[in-house]
Amino acid sequence: MSAVQHARILGIGSYRPVREVPNAEVVDAIDSSDEWIQQRSGIRSRRFAGADETVVSMSVAAARGALAHAGLEGTQVDTVIVATVSHLLQTPAAASLIAAELGTKGAAFDISAACAGFCHGVALANDLVRGGSAEHVLVVGVEKLSDITSATDRGTAFIFADGAGAVVIGPSDVPAISPVVWGSDGEQSDLIRQNIDWGTAVRDNVDEMPHLVMQGSAVFRWASFAMAKVALEAIDKAGLTVDDIDVFVPHQANNRITDVMIRTMKLPERVRVARDIVDAGNTSAASVPLALSRMVDEGEARSGDKALLIAFGAGLAFAAQVVTVP
Ligand code: COA
Repeated sequence: MSAVQHARILGIGSYRPVREVPNAEVVDAIDSSDEWIQQRSGIRSRRFAGADETVVSMSVAAARGALAHAGLEGTQVDTVIVATVSHLLQTPAAASLIAAELGTKGAAFDISAACAGFCHGVALANDLVRGGSAEHVLVVGVEKLSDITSATDRGTAFIFADGAGAVVIGPSDVPAISPVVWGSDGEQSDLIRQNIDWGTAVRDNVDEMPHLVMQGSAVFRWASFAMAKVALEAIDKAGLTVDDIDVFVPHQANNRITDVMIRTMKLPERVRVARDIVDAGNTSAASVPLALSRMVDEGEARSGDKALLIAFGAGLAFAAQVVTVP
């Protein structure tokens, strides 16, 4: 396979778990209210996966949608990259299992960059295709965070949720995925983390699932301001200005963070902004592809539009790029 000049997103798909969980169902365990949650985060409801909706099955469903949209078969994919923090089996990687179900060829591996994982995967896929190492790369963002969220943790129980989104990335005649702006601030890795590692939990007979904990206010301050700068850098690296952006798909962490970013970036009012969090919650690695997929389905993001993607979270890891909507 020879190197090609450019890569683009050829198709996008998603899977949302069947069960809708309104705020009313989560408030009692955390002494909260529907009004407080909506005002602080924008979330009205989220989806929690059932026992038969696994990280693998949700990914396969989202991937089938992306393949159909791209007009490709699983056998035409030669690399599968899965971004997740909630595939609870240490090995084999979720990607291997997903690749087997889809009948893809070639490499399959997971990456761990928490909420920023999907945008990391898009960056890798872009460079793999452009470098000639792969022709069609499937990138999945998937989470079943309800497995690793404590229903009684006031800072996280109303935020985290489940779902999967996927894209297929392949060759393009024109530039359609910009170079990524990404990074990791490990000095602040305590702000979002798993409270205890699995080995310790089992060895010490801890009578509760290890779960995510977060210092919400500090994450809020970091995300609102530092991430607007990263997003502007990504636009600049794409050779564009905010006036060229049609669609803004930020990680669906909190609607108030999105609002601050829009103001800080001075994003024009005509830019269409993803607000999937309202009924999807924060689905970590799945949030950007789920939100973009909905905008494509509903005609809010049209083929050829320039979409600014940015995702950020535990690590603290972040990644942003401008892509052309398929
Ligand atoms: N329900 C009701 N009240 C709550 C609450 C809850 N779930 N959690 C905290 N409170 C109360 C606190 O007790 C406190 O009350 P007080 O003022 O009487 O002492 C008040 O709300 C403020 O607490 P604080 O922890 O400072 O909340 P906050 O304003 O920072 O809001 C978040 C909490 C989680 C909504 C907010 O910090 C946030 O969205 N952070 C970013 C999280 C995020 O996006 N993470 C994903 C990144 S990947």
